[in-house]
Amino acid sequence: MSRHYYIAGNWKMHKTRAESAELAQALVNELKDGKHKYLIAPSFTNIETVSAIIEGTNIRLGAQNCAPEEQGAHTGEVSVLQLKDLGVQTIILGHSERRHVYKEDNALINKKVKLALSKGFEVILCIGELLEEREAGRVEEVCETQTVKGLEGVSIEDLANVIIAYEPVWAIGTGKTATPQDAEAVHAFVRKVITRLYGEEAGKKIIIQYGGSVKPDNAAQLMAMENIDGALVGGASLKTDTFVPIAKFS
Ligand code: 13P
Repeated sequence: MSRHYYIAGNWKMHKTRAESAELAQALVNELKDGKHKYLIAPSFTNIETVSAIIEGTNIRLGAQNCAPEEQGAHTGEVSVLQLKDLGVQTIILGHSERRHVYKEDNALINKKVKLALSKGFEVILCIGELLEEREAGRVEEVCETQTVKGLEGVSIEDLANVIIAYEPVWAIGTGKTATPQDAEAVHAFVRKVITRLYGEEAGKKIIIQYGGSVKPDNAAQLMAMENIDGALVGGASLKTDTFVPIAKFS
């Protein structure tokens, strides 16, 4: 199997520069002999600080969003060119907080995905259903739509730089994790969608992370599932005490 585990920390809107530097430095030390692929995504204002600390280490630098345009009159937005300039390698797109709080739709997310890929970034495309969608039996429909529309126009070559993160919205920041079995069912389904769109080989290769209240005590059970290839961690990524055990699960 060509897939590897990929553990990512999404720091969301937390930490000052000094706090980000402290955590990044601690993770560099703790994860230097880690066996998996790692990423941390600080707030925009802290990217430059963290970049200097993790450059040349086994931790990749991520951003949590980008603008759908390269440059121009876009007050309050941050461009892929600016992110490239800071050494960002990966951009998280379509996070549920972007979709549901800031009303980003599939078309906008798709535009960002294509722009980021065209500039050589790796993209973590987040998908996932709301609680009411799960209760209405619409999990597959929602995840399929977000996957298909998010990847519209993405070539098979560019797909090699795409990671999917399944983050059921009801599990984010709530302490309610999907059971390994429930998550696995969705991951297997999403892999089938990728296989249908891009073929057998691409379906086998794509990394699908799980996100939503991943903690040190549930990481290993989730990662043991056949189609779960890593984690996108929010709250537990803010401290070494909780992120390192997840990053070093066995
Ligand atoms: P929590 O780990 O805090 O539930 O957040 C998950 C998430 O949204 C990561 O992107």
